[in-house]
Amino acid sequence: MLTIALSKGRILDQTLPLLKCAGIDIAKKELNSRKLILNTNIDDVKVIIIRATDVPVFVQHGAADIGIAGKDVLLEHGAAGLFELLDLKISQCKLMVAAESKDNLKQQTLKIATKYVNCTKQYFEKRGQQIEIIKLYGSMELAPKVGLAHCIVDLVDTGNTLKANGLMPLENITDISSRLVVNIASFRTKNAQIKKWVSNIESQI
Ligand code: ATP
Ligand code: PRP
Repeated sequence: MLTIALSKGRILDQTLPLLKCAGIDIAKKELNSRKLILNTNIDDVKVIIIRATDVPVFVQHGAADIGIAGKDVLLEHGAAGLFELLDLKISQCKLMVAAESKDNLKQQTLKIATKYVNCTKQYFEKRGQQIEIIKLYGSMELAPKVGLAHCIVDLVDTGNTLKANGLMPLENITDISSRLVVNIASFRTKNAQIKKWVSNIESQI
């Protein structure tokens, strides 16, 4: 049996067509059910649909053999227990520093609102900037407006959310897209099966 962990939310809308083209189809009835382990058209392939941040955790521990998640989530989690095999080129955006103006970054201790705590620490540590992180789980763009932080680190695509909240994109930390990861042990024990599906998916990117 091969288990594939998919991220709920916006990545899923682009993942399902990609999997379908690669030969793995999940019936509407399965998707609309409350089941957490879904059957596919392939007898020995099952799919679990979970929160994006949980995907690397499931794959790291071998609860799923393959996972599809954003590079942002993977960077934040770290590479332990998994190999990144494919850039699926879907859900593309950028992890950026944003603030009301460039001057807001000129602080002895920069207060940053973000859910990307590890990525943010690494980025600012490299240039020796002292920071204080305010961990949020969403709506980061609100933080500078209400005086919670000097700036934010968050995903930016069109820039509309920043603009609507009076912020400007200032520094690009890294480009983001969805990646296919595999559990290191599964890659050894289920090598032929994994390689076959990875190659099918790769041909559809
Ligand atoms: P959760 O609901 O579990 O907290 P979330 O709200 O971060 O997760 P989504 O907003 O669906 O979940 O985002 C999932 C992934 O989609 C992100 O990890 C990122 O890789 C990608 N993503 C998020 N925002 C954008 C965007 N504006 N444009 C393109 N890709 C994005
Ligand atoms: C993401 C991200 C930004 C927004 C950026 O939020 O956290 O807020 O998209 O996209 P834009 O540059 O095209 O405006 P999302 O819509 O996923 O909402 P959430 O993180 O609050 O769930």
